[in-house]
Amino acid sequence: MIEMARKFPHAEVVGIDLAPGLIWELMPPNCRVEFDDVNQPLTHFDGSFDVVHARSCSLGINDYEQFLDRMVQWLKPGGILLLVESPLRLANLAINGEDPEGQFMELFEWVEDVIEGNGSDVRAIDDLQRFVEEHPLLENKESFIMTIPVGQWGGEDVGLLMQENFTKLVHALRPVLLRAGSPPPMVDQWVTSVEEALRSPPARFVSRWAYCCATRVMGPNMAEEDEAPGG
Ligand SMILES: C[S@@+](CC[C@H](N)C(=O)[O-])C[C@H]1O[C@@H](n2cnc3c(N)ncnc32)[C@H](O)[C@@H]1O
Repeated sequence: MIEMARKFPHAEVVGIDLAPGLIWELMPPNCRVEFDDVNQPLTHFDGSFDVVHARSCSLGINDYEQFLDRMVQWLKPGGILLLVESPLRLANLAINGEDPEGQFMELFEWVEDVIEGNGSDVRAIDDLQRFVEEHPLLENKESFIMTIPVGQWGGEDVGLLMQENFTKLVHALRPVLLRAGSPPPMVDQWVTSVEEALRSPPARFVSRWAYCCATRVMGPNMAEEDEAPGG
């Protein structure tokens, strides 16, 4: 958000978050944050944005398809929607034939069950491209999946950054799992097993990121109205 505001100083950039977490001194003057819950309609934003960008929000979303509807509503006709999401689950490219990480993946399934039971639409991200593809008020749809190494094995700095990021996420999920009533030994086993698996060859974990963009359709006669004299 801050980078966007710096890059486009003529634009007004509005961030939405549940809680303050930003370094306020870094905020450029064309940037502000509204503390709100995007699971609510927030109809005061309807039709007001040229661009809506949402990245890595899925853990806080109750119903991603409804969230998509809301983001589309917040766009002006012709406005651009940019989405970036990744499922919690990592894939292990080292698996072929037998599944040496089977238990590890089962633990991920269990974590997703708990988070889902807590009200997050965490598995919806698997359907993100379809949601965008099928949305009747979106057009010019494009999407792709980017597979990013997690850990040192990829030989790129991004792999180490992803490992650091994922390790932080796993620790951040600990209180969520405990609050949902998961037994502490099981939670600790999951945290430790993820950390160890990420560090230990021959695991070759990847995170799959879905990138989608689209524009909101113009309403009937909207293009003509926009171009009307004096408009
Ligand atoms: C993983 S962070 C991603 C932050 C940023 N979009 C990025 O990509 O760097 C998820 C953010 O979404 C916020 N969030 C989660 N649920 C939310 C909700 N229901 N309404 C508004 N913000 C929410 C969290 O507070 C957190 O700052």
